[in-house]
Amino acid sequence: MLVSTSIIGRLQQAEQIAVFTGAGMSAESGIPTFRDRFEGLWAKYDPMTVATPAAFQANPQFVWDWHVQLADTVRKAVPNPGHRAVAQLQEAVKRVTVITQNVDNLHQAAGSKDVLELHGNLFRLKSFVDEDAIFLSELRPFICHVCDGYAVGSVDSYAGKEDLENIDLVAGPIPRCPGCESLLRPSVVWFGEMLDPSILERAISAVDQCDALICIGSSLEVEPAASMPFQALKRGALVIEVNPTPTELSDRADASLLGPAGEILPALLREVWSR
Ligand code: OAD
Repeated sequence: MLVSTSIIGRLQQAEQIAVFTGAGMSAESGIPTFRDRFEGLWAKYDPMTVATPAAFQANPQFVWDWHVQLADTVRKAVPNPGHRAVAQLQEAVKRVTVITQNVDNLHQAAGSKDVLELHGNLFRLKSFVDEDAIFLSELRPFICHVCDGYAVGSVDSYAGKEDLENIDLVAGPIPRCPGCESLLRPSVVWFGEMLDPSILERAISAVDQCDALICIGSSLEVEPAASMPFQALKRGALVIEVNPTPTELSDRADASLLGPAGEILPALLREVWSR
């Protein structure tokens, strides 16, 4: 048995479950995690040179190309049995909210509906807002009706949001917003940037209302996301962790299931919900 009978009972009674996921969730789909000592993205690249606004400002094409390379790997990936188990949970539980730090779309591809992307999405583009240039400009800044970013200068009033949606993260010169001509960038949260306040608020509210939280494949090293499983614990929600490597949460969680998400989650689903 993966979990005790009393935990099985609490999970069966749970009406609201928050599923909190990190890069380990997609590891079995072939997407590297960030902090694996050898294969992790941050073992191979300094995040300060590829995942900060300052890096983009200093060398936008390099940062664009790095994300293109990551996107090429992610495009080849398909959901693994762990993603599918999370999606199936929706059929057994009244409300399931997936709070993910991943930017890879794999929860949605597996069929999960209520997915909150804390760190954005690699396949959406937005404009790079150079705040210094906007502040120092003698021109009056405006909000571009295509990319919703601050811009100065002229705008193409015939361009629409669909023109932006048709632009992809692919190799080549960095595309520009069809409205205001600002350089485009992936809509992911880089180091030093704020999370989308409306997504953050919905995630906090799901954590505050859940009967149980399942934390899958995160090292819990990046705030504010990392605090969410601990907040659920503090409220007295049942907290279960799935990760082959122990984290700071492991000793405090109601159950720490040491193993890969693609194996543990389908087994947990069978054990708890197919009775
Ligand atoms: P990390 O790379 O920090 O952690 C990945 C976790 O997944 C580790 O604890 C691994 O032990 C675990 N893991 C590995 N394989 C697994 C498997 N098959 N099943 C389950 N777990 C497995 O990734 P995150 O915690 O997601 O931020 O990192 C958080 C944020 O840091 C990312 O969203 C990213 C990064 O900088 C941004 O890009 C803003």
